[in-house]
Amino acid sequence: MKVLGLCCDHAGFELKQFVKQWLDAKKLLYKDFGTYSLDSCDYPDFAHPMALAIEAGECYAGVAICGTGNGIAITLNKHQGIRAALCWIPEISYLARRHNNANVLVMPGRYITNEVAEKVLAEFFSTDFEGGRHQRRIDKIPIK
Ligand code: RB5
Repeated sequence: MKVLGLCCDHAGFELKQFVKQWLDAKKLLYKDFGTYSLDSCDYPDFAHPMALAIEAGECYAGVAICGTGNGIAITLNKHQGIRAALCWIPEISYLARRHNNANVLVMPGRYITNEVAEKVLAEFFSTDFEGGRHQRRIDKIPIK
């Protein structure tokens, strides 16, 4: 059973609700790691548990959202098994999968419309990793 992880802070909460509707319409399963309201909170509290679940194989990938996307992406990328890519247009999302084999899609909740986010999501989840020279490059990312 393939389960996607979701996480956000207060600035990403509304877009995460939209993402859940999009996933529900496609009958895709997810686990929501929070936050669960618009109350001010700290994105690492939700990003770290989702990253650990992906590294443990409990989730096959993730979607993460904060205001700019940067705080949550920086947090997720502290984990050796995570390649979190900040995507704000579909072309970047396509290349995050194609070239970076990104396993977490990060979006900037305060700087993206639902219409664009839908295209970013569709690109991310329909694009396969290219491999080849890009595999060689991502093999060099982890700090041993
Ligand atoms: C919250 O105000 C904001 O700082 C956070 O969502 C994010 O943009 C940080 O990178």
